[in-house]
Amino acid sequence: MEKEKKVLVVGSGGREHAIVKSLAKSPKIGKIYCAPGNAGIAQDAECINLKVDDVEGITNFAQRNQIDLTVVGPEAALVAGLSDAMQSCGLKVFGPTKGAAQIESSKEFAKKLMSKYHIPTAKYESFSDFNKALDYVKSGTFPTVIKYDGLAAGKGVVVALNLEEAEKALSDMLNDHKFGNDKVIIEEFLQGPEFSFMCFVSGDKVYPLELAQDHKRAYDGDKGPNTGGMGAYSPVPFVSPEMHKKALNDIMIPTAKALVKEGVPFCGVLYGGLILTEDGPKVIEFNARFGDPETEVVLPRLESDIFDFFNAAIDGYDFIPQWSHDAVIGVVLASKGYPGSYEKGAEIKGLDNIEGEVFHMGTELKDGKFHVAGGRVLMVTAHGDDLPQANLNVRKEIALIECPGLFHRTDIGKAVLNQ
Ligand code: AMP
Ligand code: GLY
Repeated sequence: MEKEKKVLVVGSGGREHAIVKSLAKSPKIGKIYCAPGNAGIAQDAECINLKVDDVEGITNFAQRNQIDLTVVGPEAALVAGLSDAMQSCGLKVFGPTKGAAQIESSKEFAKKLMSKYHIPTAKYESFSDFNKALDYVKSGTFPTVIKYDGLAAGKGVVVALNLEEAEKALSDMLNDHKFGNDKVIIEEFLQGPEFSFMCFVSGDKVYPLELAQDHKRAYDGDKGPNTGGMGAYSPVPFVSPEMHKKALNDIMIPTAKALVKEGVPFCGVLYGGLILTEDGPKVIEFNARFGDPETEVVLPRLESDIFDFFNAAIDGYDFIPQWSHDAVIGVVLASKGYPGSYEKGAEIKGLDNIEGEVFHMGTELKDGKFHVAGGRVLMVTAHGDDLPQANLNVRKEIALIECPGLFHRTDIGKAVLNQ
């Protein structure tokens, strides 16, 4: 029975590289495919040239190759209905249906669900008329939060500090249709540290993963523009066991149950982007998939066989994952200029000297050497007995990489290093 299972991972970033590397540790797996993968993933899996939203192509591939399990990374594949199509062909897939993925793809769906089932989150109103939205903002206080109602690659949220900023955001979204669609949500500004709570969910069964914190701003001190994530760490010491329990019992479990009641049971990773306010944890957003770059620091701490964990979650069996007590910090090396325009093509040297795990986000292989091919290029991770030790280790690793075109943050996890 050993080494016979075939798995397919859908996606092409650091998150999918972490899923692939984690699956590669399972003694049950004989073959890992990744669609489309990237140059780094190609070292650990066979990459298949199919786009993540090519539902027909991916489903046919899985059928032809008798894939035992497909793990879907990006929301674009979920929203395109990949899980629905695979399930209807009898294929085993870890990732929610299009209906259940609305918890990420429609902010209004998520807010209505939370309101109906009393799940703690910021108060909100939704608008499609610019003047009505503006009147509402004028009658409230600042900061206020304006969110585009749909997928906007992490760029659809504006924390407006004053009326001018709010008006511009509303005009961009409702008058100029910057992201398509024509709906926004205006919500109460919440204060507190944020953390990411990912759970494997199968209907009303919820299996929590270890917590992580993401760093979304480009530069040290949380300055600069928002990005896809510049680094992450796990565990998160500022969330006490009591608050952790509250987040699980008041947010993650009731949300899974609510989705079942609404007729869209969830199977996959339910990601709670939570904020620890004075009144306890509240929801900032839900995602319907593994977080990136949180996955790259959480999965390396998983000691159980992830293939068993995926199967238990899909089938709804009891499973208690074992986690290492290590801390992990991951730092993203990005192209200078990211998230704006940047240059591609520079060679990356020194990767062979690194002992920790390196997840590729945007690289390409030319003449046997890795080169820069994206905005976020690599995520370098290191373990330690605690976060300060992991931090020292990750600094040493990064120093081994030579590539003048890259930059990184030097303060990932800094706020909690001494806790
Ligand atoms: P989202 O895409 O919904 O996760 O929002 C992106 C970022 O905007 C979050 O990580 C928060 O830092 C910030 N944000 C979103 N909603 C709120 C809120 N209601 N109060 C304060 N900050 C928020
Ligand atoms: N790290 C945030 C996300 O994956 O959306």
